[in-house]
This record gives sequence, structure tokens and C-alpha cells, in this order.
Amino acid sequence: MSSTEQRLQDLRNRKARSEAGGGQARVDAQHNRGKMTARERMEMLLDDGSFQEIDALVEHRCRDFNMDTNVIPGDGVVTGHGTINGREVFAFAQDFTVYGGSLGEMHGLKICKVLDMALKTGRPVIGMNDSGGARIQEGVASLGSYAEIFFRNVRASGVVPQISVIMGPCAGGAVYSPAITDFVIMVDQTAHMFITGPEVIKTVTNEVVSFEDLGGAMTHGSKSGVSHFTASDDESALALARELTDLFPQNNLERPPTKKTSDPIDRKCDALDTIIPDVATKPYDVLDVIAEILDDGAFLEVQADWAQNIVVGFGHLGSQTVGVVANQPKVLAGCLDIDASDKAARFVRFCDAFNIPLITLEDVPGFLPGTNQEWGGIIRHGAKLLYAYAEATVPKLTVILRKAYGGAYDVMSSKHIRGDYNVAWPTGELAVMGADGAVEIIHKRRIAHARNAEQERARLTEDFNEKFANPYKAAALGYLDDVIEPSETRRRLARALDMLLDKEELRPARKHGNIPL
Ligand code: HXC
Repeated sequence: MSSTEQRLQDLRNRKARSEAGGGQARVDAQHNRGKMTARERMEMLLDDGSFQEIDALVEHRCRDFNMDTNVIPGDGVVTGHGTINGREVFAFAQDFTVYGGSLGEMHGLKICKVLDMALKTGRPVIGMNDSGGARIQEGVASLGSYAEIFFRNVRASGVVPQISVIMGPCAGGAVYSPAITDFVIMVDQTAHMFITGPEVIKTVTNEVVSFEDLGGAMTHGSKSGVSHFTASDDESALALARELTDLFPQNNLERPPTKKTSDPIDRKCDALDTIIPDVATKPYDVLDVIAEILDDGAFLEVQADWAQNIVVGFGHLGSQTVGVVANQPKVLAGCLDIDASDKAARFVRFCDAFNIPLITLEDVPGFLPGTNQEWGGIIRHGAKLLYAYAEATVPKLTVILRKAYGGAYDVMSSKHIRGDYNVAWPTGELAVMGADGAVEIIHKRRIAHARNAEQERARLTEDFNEKFANPYKAAALGYLDDVIEPSETRRRLARALDMLLDKEELRPARKHGNIPL
């Protein structure tokens, strides 16, 4: 063999060693758990043959605990870049077959390099997490690398989209990297996120809880709101990450990509003319309204199982990516509560950061009453949503379908906090509160002194409804740009969006605002 051939062979051997990870037995164990390996995940995430690895030859430099006798090039994380439907992204995938995917100094710095390059080039980052957390043998060096990652996640926040796919354990402080990123996708049954595990919890609080109940995909998808999507397996989690990336711009200086459609923008939505039930207290499913309005009825709901009294998600209108926020009258009558406020506020801020126009579909009787809500800080949480809408400078389009009562009217992208295009259906009701409550307050004495209190109450309620339970007072004040026929909603919104695409709106220069967290 010539010396050139020897060198080539040496390189190939080194790469092969890196690619082998923790060895066949551990790869088999990974497969037996229904999990793909890091490399398989990377290949599945990216377009065929587009993956370019970097740092395959990085090694840890720990000398304690005999670690120098077990050096695996790549150090337990596969990093690099590739394309998703032709658009460049950066990605990393932790390799559970190498030290349980645990994060040591060099493993962490590899992830940092990817984040730095993504920020420098303005490309999204997708992280595939499958790790036992801080590499115990490397001690504080692991913690240092974690914090370096957290810092970069924060620096990249609002500059490039960041998606975390949780495909195995993600424990302790390690959860804070995904928590800072824009979207968390968890794989059902195999992904677990928690700060302290079941054993510690048992010792400290005496509670007995399984990994799955404590921090599984269902828990974080429906109880805590930590995760945005639950996927049934690795493959569908990665398909979802691709779908999300397709919706977003590469960075905050770009507009989102458009998606061709054959759905005409002037398509009438006849079903919407009769979707609001005649009885004001009867619910309907706002998802039906969303599907009627958006291109091809396609809607990707975010956090579908958490705070279901508000619906948020992505779709297209006239080929443009849009973010939709809609009260859901089917759940808690569509009231705003603590979780719904948090959910919608974070969504609004993501859309604003990445130039995604917002469509708000409003049917809200107000904020949810109760000591739970008040003591839990509904004032603080509701303020987040108000703040997020007022701060957002992307095109904001609002349709009042039915109720727009009280503070919730102001909060939900009203004209006064700079909604750009605000319309109502004829079924819109814009008032300080519902007729029943209002009549009890302003006509208290009159009802008390009436010969027939019931009759008087009914008469006054009807009178109030006639005067205020409609959109025309607000239209007369210019708080609404128009009252439209529901069947026209798609056409009117698409035209307004087209008109608003080049909108520019500035806010005073400042270091940053102080959102009520
Ligand atoms: C080093 C680790 C490791 C770790 C796992 N391994 N976690 N090595 N540091 N943190 C190794 C194991 O020694 C084993 O090596 C291999 O990975 C697979 O682990 P198993 O335990 O055999 O796998 P499994 O039964 O599936 O259990 C997985 C696990 C468990 C639930 C993740 O390993 C575990 O509880 N690990 C510790 C988790 C933890 O407490 N991490 C610290 C969290 S605190 P071999 O050679 O046998 O294959 C934290 C702080 C971050 O992360 C702070 C940031 C600010």
C-alpha cells in the first residue's frame, strides 16, 4: 500500500470508528426500544444524501474514571448541516449508544459550534435529544458546556427558528435547552423530560410516580404545556420537524416561504353563514371555522391537547404562512384563563419574531372567574397575551365571530392595540359584559322595585341585547373596519393580508421590554 493509500485508509478507519458509535450491541438495544440511532435520525430528518457531518473526529479529553481508555470519535453526538426540501438547516442528534448520549465538555461544544454557525448563517436549528444528561465523569466541565448551549439558545431566540425533538431521556437541567427553543416535539413512550426523576421525588415528597406519568409526551402535551407536539414514533416526529421548518423563514430577516395552492382566494365559505348557533350559549367547533378559511382546509395545530379553550396553529391563506389564534367555544365557553393566555402569548411572540402574519378568530365571553385563577395570577398571565399582541408588528387580522366581552375584547388583537384589519360577523357581540350580568348591575334597583321582577329582568335583558349584543356600535366608532358576511371571510382576509404584507410599523428603540412573566 502506498503512503497515500495508507493515509486514506487511516482516515476511513477513523470515520468508521466514529460512525460505529457505541457498537452493535448498543445499536441493537436502541432498535429494540423502537428508537432509531442518531445517524438514522439525521438521515431521516434531512433530504436524501444532503447531510454533511462536522466534528466527526472530536474526542473527549477526560482522564478520570479510566475514560482515556474509552474514547469514541464524535463523542456521542452527530452534528452538521443539510437540507429540508432544499433549504439549508443545522442539526444535531445525540447518540445514546455512546455514554448514554450524556453531555460532556466536547459533546457540548460540538452542539455550540452548530448553534454558532446557524446564527452566523441565519439557518434554523433542529436538535434531536436522547441523553442521560450531564456526563457524570466529566463533572463541572459538562455543566459548563450545558450553560454554553443555553446561552446560545437564548442568543439565537427570535433570530433563527429552533426546534427540539425529544426522542429519549432529557433530565435535570438538560431540559432547559429544549425549553428555550421555539417548539418541542416529544415521541410518545420513549421521550421523558423532568427536572428530578421519580426516585428523588419519592424521597423528597413521598409521591410515587412513573417516568411516563411524570414526564412523558402525554403529560407534557396535555398537563404542563412544555411540549408542543406528540409524535407516535421517531419517524413521525422527524416528519413533523420537516413540516414545521417548511412553514418558517430561515431567520428573522426573511419572510416565510409561500406554498402554492389551487384553492381560490375568493372561494365562498357558505358553511360559515350558519355555523354560529341561534342560541348564544350553544357551542360550535372553531376548528371548523379555521378549516373553512385556510387554503385547502389545512391547519397544523400547536399544543392541541393543552389549554384547549384557545386554539393556535399554522396554515396558509392565499399561499402565505399565517398563524391562527382562535377562542374555542367548545371548551370553557372559550374563556381566557392562565394556561390559554400563556399558550397564545408565546405563539403570538413566535409569529411576530419570524414575520408570520396573525389571524385572530374571536369568540370570548371574558376571563375565567374563580379563586384558582385569581390566586394563580390570571392578572399577570392575561397581561402576557395583551403585551404580546400589543408588541407584535406583523400584520394582525381579527374577525369577531360572536362574543367579544370585557377586557378580553381589548386583549384579543383589538384595533386599540393596533390590530390592522378588524371585522366582525353580524353575530358579533361587543360589550363590557353579557346581558345577564350587565342588567343585574345597572338595573339592580329597578328590578328590586318592579312588581314582577322576573318579567322586568327579561325585558331589560332583551333591551340590552338589542342595543349592545351586535357589532354596529363598534362599527360606528370605527373600532371595526367592517361587518362582513361570514361566507366572505376567506376572501376578505386574503385581500387584507395581501394589502398588509409590506406593512411597516416601528416601536421605540429600547434594550427590551419587560413582559410580565
Ligand atoms: C455518564 C451515563 C449517564 C451520565 C447514562 N450513562 N447516563 N454516563 N453520565 N449521565 C451511561 C450508562 O452508564 C450506560 O453506559 C449507558 O449510558 C446507558 O445507560 P443505562 O442506565 O444502561 O440505560 P437506561 O437503563 O436506558 O437508563 C437511561 C437513563 C439512566 C434513565 C438515562 O442511565 C440514568 O438515569 N442516567 C443518569 C441520569 C442523570 O441523573 N443524569 C444527570 C441529570 S442532571 P454503558 O457503558 O453501561 O452502556 C443533569 C444536569 C444537567 O443532567 C445540568 C445542566 C445545567
